[in-house]
Amino acid sequence: MSKLGVNIDHVATLRQARREGIPDIVQAACAVAAGGADSITVHLRLDRRHINDEDVYRLKKENILPLNLEMAASEEIVKIALDVKPAYACIVPEKRQELTTEGGLDVASNRDILVKTAEKLKESEIEVAFFIDPSVESVREAASCGADAVELHTGRYANSSGRERQTELKKLKSAAAETLKLGMKLNAGHGLNYDNINPVKEIEGMSDLNIGYSIVCRAVFTGLESAVREMVSLIK
Ligand code: PXP
Repeated sequence: MSKLGVNIDHVATLRQARREGIPDIVQAACAVAAGGADSITVHLRLDRRHINDEDVYRLKKENILPLNLEMAASEEIVKIALDVKPAYACIVPEKRQELTTEGGLDVASNRDILVKTAEKLKESEIEVAFFIDPSVESVREAASCGADAVELHTGRYANSSGRERQTELKKLKSAAAETLKLGMKLNAGHGLNYDNINPVKEIEGMSDLNIGYSIVCRAVFTGLESAVREMVSLIK
């Protein structure tokens, strides 16, 4: 059965709007656990635009759920990962100007650094995934670099419709089959939501589905009414 990893970066995005310490990231992790998720995902970006170093250390220390650290293969972040020792690390490409991770890793062009990064993390018993576009070629590249797992980028699937979506789903299925054939763990994420999750969850061998934005957006509306009611009862 597939598992749910919840990305709580956008809880930190909201906190950074005021930098007053709320909403608290550990409290968010507790709510995610109470909701039945299997892991917590955070992306410690080089520009620290949402999640910061302290968040990562606190989430590890509180040990609420296994921690999945999304990270660039940069010396600075690798050093932190080796110190924190999350259960999982997902290596992602990172551009400073992007709003969110735009594409999968270009494994072929970054082979040396990716091999070294995977090696170091694995020595610390961190399970290493590569975030890749859903192609058989990328899966093979990830395997040849020593990745334990791949996270297939579902962004194109999520942003398409009709026939194009079916084509993207086929790509995901082929890449998934190759992942299993090569003995790697199969994860997926990006752009998944309440409407498009079913076909992805049904891909054979699918393990961890990492979902953030749609869940945090939904939480605004499942929580706003009761938050207002509480304030109304204090005022009136
Ligand atoms: N997986 C990876 C590797 C990501 O970079 C992201 C976005 O931070 C996600 C999953 C979650 O994507 P979304 O927020 O669109 O659900």
